[in-house]
Amino acid sequence: MIEYETTEEDRVDRLMDEWLRITEGKRTAHHATTGKDRDKPSHFMQIVEFPSYEEAMRNSDLPETRHLAEELREACVEAPRFVNLEVTRDEVVDENAMESLMGKVLTDLGAVAIAPLMVIGERLGIFTAMADGAPVSSIELAARTGTQERNVREWLAAMAASGYVTLDPDGRFRLSPEQTVVFTQQDSPYYAPSGFQLFSACAAHETRDKLEQAFVKGGGMGWEQHIPELFPSVGRFFRNGYAAFLVDMWLPSLNGVVDRLNNGGSVADVGCGIGWSTMQMARAFPKAHCVGFDYHAPSIDQAKAAAEQSGLAARVDFRTAGSADFGGGPYDLITFFDCLHDMGDPVGALSHCRARLTDGGVVMLVEPNAADDLAENLHPLSRAMYAASSMVCVPASQAQEVGRALGAQAGEERTREVAAEAGFAHFRRASETPFNLIYELMS
Ligand SMILES: C[S@@+](CC[C@H](N)C(=O)[O-])C[C@H]1O[C@@H](n2cnc3c(N)ncnc32)[C@H](O)[C@@H]1O
Repeated sequence: MIEYETTEEDRVDRLMDEWLRITEGKRTAHHATTGKDRDKPSHFMQIVEFPSYEEAMRNSDLPETRHLAEELREACVEAPRFVNLEVTRDEVVDENAMESLMGKVLTDLGAVAIAPLMVIGERLGIFTAMADGAPVSSIELAARTGTQERNVREWLAAMAASGYVTLDPDGRFRLSPEQTVVFTQQDSPYYAPSGFQLFSACAAHETRDKLEQAFVKGGGMGWEQHIPELFPSVGRFFRNGYAAFLVDMWLPSLNGVVDRLNNGGSVADVGCGIGWSTMQMARAFPKAHCVGFDYHAPSIDQAKAAAEQSGLAARVDFRTAGSADFGGGPYDLITFFDCLHDMGDPVGALSHCRARLTDGGVVMLVEPNAADDLAENLHPLSRAMYAASSMVCVPASQAQEVGRALGAQAGEERTREVAAEAGFAHFRRASETPFNLIYELMS
């Protein structure tokens, strides 16, 4: 940076122009900005940028530059001041980047606002009333669902603007074949309203206030401190993915497990929540004995009720127990579905399992799909998972003893470390889907 005072601005400009002309191809300065003080117009500052300090020195050593410095001295009131300025911050707001960031923010604002409408639409059966894919007016839809036409009309407008229902040229609305699957087929792995219910339940305002306190004071936030709607939502959100892959893909990828279960083996499903995974295994392997454990008693009550309702109560047991103290066994298979990372002491839980496996028995960990490196996880799926993990999984683990807080995007390496600490000699990625990584652990 050069700071100088002159009453001969034109003369200085000519000197600079001449220097630019004669140093063409030699100078190392790549950008110069000159400004003058509004309140003292004879006072100038010039910032000359160089690729590096060494290049700046090379530029100063040019004979033309030395000559310029002498001429400048004569054209100025006193000797110019030269400062070797090291750049510590250099920020330019890029208009294009700004526009695309704001576009993303706008999309997200819409997503936040659409979430409760999605839950309402599902609960009131508005989507299912459109499941035939035929065009319908807001008047017909309100009549079909026993709702107020004006409210339904606005709901339809919001869904059409989201791309979640289709607006026909005659002003009626319908679901395309894809929208029909995603918004009405409750057993499809593509079914979306359950996800909106889950993420809305994670972010309920009561939860947010408790979570905020946990951020400040530490100590996490226990699973049981969430609003009751969270527990069935989690079960609903995961169950279709398990139904699609568990019996046909994940269990067959494990060493000898299917044979054992077909021949009356035993399964412990740890952290089973409301028990969908336990019941799916009980249904697929009628001879097997399946027990679901969870430390959250209200979830176990719901699991028992669901087993009763689906006629599986005689073949499946549900018990309230923690991951490091569940009983029974020995088991041929011990499973953890999307829950090891929620536990305060995953090493303690896996050590407990090791002692409760039959000879050749297997622990199956179903964990959310994630790379080890955060930089590889910066995409929409991980974004949703990190958000849920920030609100539920990490605080739940922190609220328990040890508080390892693996997080829902722990990745394979950190999961392998936990298994090794628990004494498992064998750890293998047995299967994977876009949503999950499936690990096989054996002693
Ligand atoms: C994200 S939910 C998954 C539930 C179920 N496995 C599923 O896939 O739907 C995590 C579950 O882990 C349970 N959990 C957390 N810590 C536990 C612990 N230390 N012992 C037993 N269960 C635990 C919670 O109660 C919750 O049901």
